[in-house]
Amino acid sequence: MNIAVFASGNGSNFQVLAEKFPNNVKLAFSDHHEAYVLKRAEKLNVPAVSFELKEFINKATYESELVEILEREKIDLVVLAGYMKIIGPTLLKKYGGRIINIHPSFLPNFAGSPHAIEESWEANRGLGVTVHYVDEGVDTGDVIAQVTLPYLENLAEYEQSVHEVEYRLYPDVIEKMICR
Ligand code: GRF
Repeated sequence: MNIAVFASGNGSNFQVLAEKFPNNVKLAFSDHHEAYVLKRAEKLNVPAVSFELKEFINKATYESELVEILEREKIDLVVLAGYMKIIGPTLLKKYGGRIINIHPSFLPNFAGSPHAIEESWEANRGLGVTVHYVDEGVDTGDVIAQVTLPYLENLAEYEQSVHEVEYRLYPDVIEKMICR
């Protein structure tokens, strides 16, 4: 199974996946040229591509370019890991059912929030991590796996516990998909 990972920034989840599945992670894509994930990809020898929405006339042409690359590289599964854009109809038409995302809350709590860790911690509700299929909504697709996390007094410590779970949960889900 050929996997492409989309990430907008840091890319720590990308790195975990690329190290765990070196034969499957074939491509990193970022919608920001300066994203740290691109440096990680270089170090790990994973081919990487970046382009930005503003370089295209609209989202459809941006996504058409992505579809072209994904098809050329024979990508079977698109893994979103901190990709901060909503997947539009152009990508969904070709890759619907083959795009998954990880969200740092127990969905449906804090769906769509780019600050789900802080918000769930502040509310002491919906603490956890969810992996789900991507549909036309925002964090609304079918849940594949999710775990709850206990509240921790310290936000930084809670945040760390979220990432530790992410680094286990995402590989577990993907391993099962590869073995299917
Ligand atoms: C993760 O917390 C993920 O759940 C969320 O964005 C963050 C990405 O972190 N969607 P990183 O770029 O993988 O370090």
